[in-house]
Amino acid sequence: MVKLALKGGKPVREKPFPKWPVFDEKELNALKMVLESGVWGTGQNVKQFEERFAEYQNAKYGVTVTSGTTALEISLRACGIGCGDEVITTPYTFMATATSILYVNAIPVFVDIEPDTYNIDPDKVEEAITEKTKAILPVHIGGRPANMSEIMRIAEKNNLHVIEDACQAWGSEWMGKRVGSFGDLGCFSFYSSKNMTSGEGGIIVTNDYELYVKAWSLHNCGRLPGKAWYEHYLPGTNYRMTEFQAAILLVQLERLDEHTKKRAENAEYLNSKLSKIDGLKPLKKDDRITRHAWHLYIFRYDPDAFAGVSKNDFANAIRAEGIPVSVGYSKPLYKEPYLEYFKKCPLSCPNYGKAIDYSKVQLPEVEKACYTEGLWIPQNVLLGSKEDMDDIVAAIEKIKTNIDELKHD
Ligand SMILES: Cc1ncc(COP(=O)(O)O)c(C=O)c1O
Repeated sequence: MVKLALKGGKPVREKPFPKWPVFDEKELNALKMVLESGVWGTGQNVKQFEERFAEYQNAKYGVTVTSGTTALEISLRACGIGCGDEVITTPYTFMATATSILYVNAIPVFVDIEPDTYNIDPDKVEEAITEKTKAILPVHIGGRPANMSEIMRIAEKNNLHVIEDACQAWGSEWMGKRVGSFGDLGCFSFYSSKNMTSGEGGIIVTNDYELYVKAWSLHNCGRLPGKAWYEHYLPGTNYRMTEFQAAILLVQLERLDEHTKKRAENAEYLNSKLSKIDGLKPLKKDDRITRHAWHLYIFRYDPDAFAGVSKNDFANAIRAEGIPVSVGYSKPLYKEPYLEYFKKCPLSCPNYGKAIDYSKVQLPEVEKACYTEGLWIPQNVLLGSKEDMDDIVAAIEKIKTNIDELKHD
């Protein structure tokens, strides 16, 4: 008789994990107040949220925007990055990290990740620097801070900008300092799946007043603080956040610390349990990470310890047992078809002076992470109870015991 749910057996779990997003009367009241105030565009809620969130991330200034994607684009523009410039980044990330670079007509230079953190490898960053390099764009993947000590050392030595993609890392800390405040600018997303959300939305934080004014102007039609409404100084556009979004985010921020603590407890618990299963490895523990947002619980799968079953088949089997595991990024960003659309400009722009051909890029660690190894559990699952975590472990142990049912004939 078959045991695995994928083959018709009884699943380990039939009840759902905690729902996301989380909200209560506070969000409802905040929205009602905005409605009744008559100020629906940008107003006091936006201003307050910018101040509070920037402070939360150890930064002086904040500029709210429409998304994490637009936060990245504006940050690159604020640093003056454009045609003919190279930006070094990771291929293990959401596509917006790279498209934001392409949208400002610059060239993403992908370097490999560290096999045990899935973050950009600082040694590979250093090797990739050329006379065209203008910036490093690290991503704090899943909420795990990249090695900001090394990245800042390399940036300072080579006079490069650093724009942090902290779109998955609200409240994460590297050696006691919050991410987004190390580089020139830090970018965050408040998209629906994120640990704090307003459906859509984003923010840029910075400690540099000049960059703050540039980012503010670029997101607000090129206006400048204190100048007339119909005077436009920078090539800006409209990426402004509404009062509805900011009002919700002010409440979500109040809940973030409690949620982060819960996610961290459950992630540690999963680390202790999953590391005991032959063929599974959590990402490496690092004491320099003093706070982790745990947007994703990422763990590594070794098919050889599971009778050669692919990670896709393994993930399907876990999902059938009632656990929402995902295979995550299924290919490195340099393999995604969208790059074709940038082939002419900027990838073979005469101002760049050579043509980039991503089909020649081969980075072994990211390919292993995407194709054979990396599995994700989403943040809402980590808001569950210890018993919920035990169900995850039980599902995986059950699959391991009955792995022969997954072997192809
Ligand atoms: C690493 C990373 N960068 C950028 C983004 C873009 O954010 P948004 O979806 O708010 O545009 C996201 C979110 O999806 C992300 O996870």
